[in-house]
Amino acid sequence: MVKVNLGGCDSFIKEADYKAYVEKALEAFDTLENETGAGNDFLGWKHLPSKTLEGTLVQEFEAVRDDWKARGVNAVVVIGIGGSYLGAKCAVEALSHNFAKQLGTGDAPEIIFAGHNLSEEYLCEMMDYLKTRNVATVVISKSGTTTEPAVAFRIVKQYLENCYGKEEAAARIVAVTDAKRGALKSLSTQEGYRTFVIEDSVGGRFSVMSPVGLLPIVLGGFDVRALLEGAKEMEELCAKRCIECNPALQYAAMRNLLYGNGLSTEVLVTYNPKLTFLAEWWKQLFGESEGKDLKGIFPASVTYTTDLHSMGQFVQDGARIMFETVVSVEKSQRSLVIEADPQNLDGLNFLAGKHVEECNAMAELGTRLAHIDGGVPQMQVVVEKVDAYNLGSLFYFFEKACGISAYMLGVNPFNQPGVEAYKKNMFALLGKPGYEEQAAALQQRLK
Ligand code: PA5
Repeated sequence: MVKVNLGGCDSFIKEADYKAYVEKALEAFDTLENETGAGNDFLGWKHLPSKTLEGTLVQEFEAVRDDWKARGVNAVVVIGIGGSYLGAKCAVEALSHNFAKQLGTGDAPEIIFAGHNLSEEYLCEMMDYLKTRNVATVVISKSGTTTEPAVAFRIVKQYLENCYGKEEAAARIVAVTDAKRGALKSLSTQEGYRTFVIEDSVGGRFSVMSPVGLLPIVLGGFDVRALLEGAKEMEELCAKRCIECNPALQYAAMRNLLYGNGLSTEVLVTYNPKLTFLAEWWKQLFGESEGKDLKGIFPASVTYTTDLHSMGQFVQDGARIMFETVVSVEKSQRSLVIEADPQNLDGLNFLAGKHVEECNAMAELGTRLAHIDGGVPQMQVVVEKVDAYNLGSLFYFFEKACGISAYMLGVNPFNQPGVEAYKKNMFALLGKPGYEEQAAALQQRLK
């Protein structure tokens, strides 16, 4: 369950302004709930948690997991980019032991990501590693035409076919893509791959609770039902037209008020390195949903206390362009007490008897207060602990808040026209058929 605390904004805003933004948030909420806004054919994500818990999809994912286990698979390459990558990556990072790789992951296969870059070194080094593993792959692309995952999949597919033969390779490939369209769909049909469908009404960055996120999460051995339960609780809470009880409304209202007051950057702060990729997922969700039509809050992120020794200086003392949203975790799931040392040569005996997490909590509180004093408004998004249930809550909370917030800004949250510009240039520069004119124009500019 997610709670929002806006107390750290009090000294930066006027009560009357907040009330006005609450009204705007309620209007945007109505647009989202009544499905009357721009992009309203992309609202399938709103009921994914409850729908998925009622259906049989999770059992179907578990059947893939069990089949691959029987084949001895110990590494699954999950291929995708953007919304077809970040949710699963975030879940794997948040829910894994920090040293899972060194310790060995136990029963579940290791999840390896590819297709989220075009680095030759990354792919070569991944292949070096795959040669030591028993491999299967999940290729994820809604459009089925995105270059980065398509390149990675071609390489992994050829490797699997060379290694295991065509028939066995086909049993080790699952595609997650559109029901009808795209190169990946036709290739899967032709090669006889198992496929899971990304519904038309679910856009990439809102797809973590579809097969896009859930299949890799199941394959990695994580508790997907708990994740969906946490998301479902937020699905219910965030459907309430009530500012006091709906945290998504509170967060959307305040971030737009701060933006209205001239703060153009939001920094998502975490204090647990397991949540670093929550911030990456969040940046994509808000960046692609809101940054358009020359509008938008620039989403940035830091992991404290690590980044207090780098970005902390700027946040405390640099240009006043930002507010912070701190993801606060109430409980550590491990326990480590700092012992007294009779010699006290390091002068740390004042910490004796305290848990390390108490030091982390005081660093968080001290930083929040210092940043408020430095002119940085603070919101807090609070969860009890870092587990599947709370991660599901966070996913749904941020998705709902993003929909409301983007409508408040007056943009369509569900398109991403700006992403096409680099693709066109890249295709032209790589000589893709159909891009000859653009290629000539670019060559002219590069002379
Ligand atoms: O949120 C989005 O829509 C994008 O980030 C896409 O997920 C990303 O571009 C990958 O697209 P696709 O799944 O079609 O390969």
